[in-house]
Amino acid sequence: MDNTLQHIAVIMDGNGRWAKKQHKIRTFGHKKGVEQVREIAIHASELGIKCLTLYAFSTENWKRPEKEVNYIMSLPKVFFSKYLKELMENNIRVMMIGDEGRIPEEAMSIFRQAIKETSGNTGMILNFAVNYGGRDEIVRAAKAYAEDYKEGKVTDLDEESFASYLYTGGLPEVDLLIRTSHELRLSNFLLYQLAYSEMIFTETLWPDFTPEELDRCIEEYGRRKRRFGGVDETESD
Ligand code: IPE
Ligand code: IPE
Ligand code: MG
Repeated sequence: MDNTLQHIAVIMDGNGRWAKKQHKIRTFGHKKGVEQVREIAIHASELGIKCLTLYAFSTENWKRPEKEVNYIMSLPKVFFSKYLKELMENNIRVMMIGDEGRIPEEAMSIFRQAIKETSGNTGMILNFAVNYGGRDEIVRAAKAYAEDYKEGKVTDLDEESFASYLYTGGLPEVDLLIRTSHELRLSNFLLYQLAYSEMIFTETLWPDFTPEELDRCIEEYGRRKRRFGGVDETESD
């Protein structure tokens, strides 16, 4: 595998459409989506990926019907009660990014427990973005910096030090973004972090996204030329 690939971020989209296609209610798609999270997390960990960030719930997703929101917020319990043991066996460390404030206490305590139990693991970071919004994150970072500045803890700000105020501070740069279900937008995901990430938009709905398709995305990533604004050696005069 391309050794520059350390961090993959995924917008797991299309659960509702997957369910509708089978004449089922939307929550049925979210339930299957959870199984895919397990499949993809274990596979990415086996491939040696350092960090996998999964967009599970956005700051905009509160607009959905209460029943659907409640169902999604019950899924951490389903996921960790089923798979925490396997995450431990695979040396996977759970993390979370987003505004914890609005997440129901029951879901939060499940996350806290999983984060604590896996905190000594040294393998892949499985990072869940829950109640996450890119703009919200940037505003919070700006406020936190202003606070530190007022208290005289910091002076100047540059791109790197600003990044340390983001939820993702300390994590490797996002190398590859994958969005399923053929929506060609970011939906407020990792706005600062995706500045130079490679992006793959696939038509597959998240509940159908397999480890084999992840392999194909990684192969595609390997074929991309990441110039970061420069000129490739083979292309220079
Ligand atoms: C993604 O699938 C899951 C979440 C946003 C929580 P959707 O629920 O957005 O599925 P579609 O896009 O309606 O098919
Ligand atoms: C983005 O999907 C959020 C997650 C996958 C958690 P949405 O389904 O909410 O995005 P939009 O509404 O189509 O932009
Ligand atoms: Mg969607």
